[in-house]
Amino acid sequence: MTDVGETRNGAAALRLEGVCKGFAGGDGGRIQVLDGVSLRLERGELGVITGPSGSGKSTLLNVAALMDRADAGEVWLDGKATSGLSDRERARLRGREIGFVFQRFHLLPRRSVLENVLFRFRYAGVPKEMRAEAAAREALERVGMAGLAGRTAGVLSAGEMQRVAIARAIVLPPTLLLADEPTGNLDARNAEGIMNLFGSLNAEGLAMLVVTHSAAWERMGGVRVWRMEGGALRAQ
Ligand SMILES: Nc1ncnc2c1ncn2[C@@H]1O[C@H](COP(=O)(O)OP(=O)(O)OP(=O)(O)O)[C@@H](O)[C@H]1O
Ligand SMILES: [Mg+2]
Repeated sequence: MTDVGETRNGAAALRLEGVCKGFAGGDGGRIQVLDGVSLRLERGELGVITGPSGSGKSTLLNVAALMDRADAGEVWLDGKATSGLSDRERARLRGREIGFVFQRFHLLPRRSVLENVLFRFRYAGVPKEMRAEAAAREALERVGMAGLAGRTAGVLSAGEMQRVAIARAIVLPPTLLLADEPTGNLDARNAEGIMNLFGSLNAEGLAMLVVTHSAAWERMGGVRVWRMEGGALRAQ
């Protein structure tokens, strides 16, 4: 596959072309979850992916985040083709360029809220002495969690964990923010706060792709919406 027109400066923040991903089924067969998915998210753009449960939205985000490899197709991150990279190179690129909010948070339960946010610096390979506590506290402030910086992450409510996970994703400004149901565990007021936060990060130029069941995201201004169904992604 060629990179025609994908000069570093003119590149999309994220581009997928013909991405396929399947898993071994319990009966010895194979479940084809992604069946030729293509998508182009421009820099500064906010994309929303909806679709029924089990349609492959998380699978798609995991492939886009370079956590999983596609069986076929290509993923370009900021113009860089990634299928030919080693696992180590992919991990480095992911650590540097992608902020990821997991559907199930993936916080370290025995560490404090602040330590969890600071872990983002480690994933990105930032030297220990440069892991800025001030930046971590500011990120927690933005998600309304500054007051709980010292609390053990494992005792937080789901909504609080969600907000810490978001702080961890944005503490080092990424090239691309991928979020899997970032408001799925929040009440209406907190969900609105998080949507406003994503809106202002987007207005600051951050490209982001949000997977959600909530129609509220689709109503945000300037959003591009896709629907995942039957292994394919369709622009709405
Ligand atoms: N590692 C895996 N091994 C086997 N099957 C998997 C694996 N990961 C995902 N699947 C299957 O792929 C399908 C899509 O799962 P996925 O988690 O991507 O759906 P989703 O659209 O995110 O659903 P939800 O809205 O409920 O979060 C499901 O049928 C799931 O069981
Ligand atoms: Mg999911």
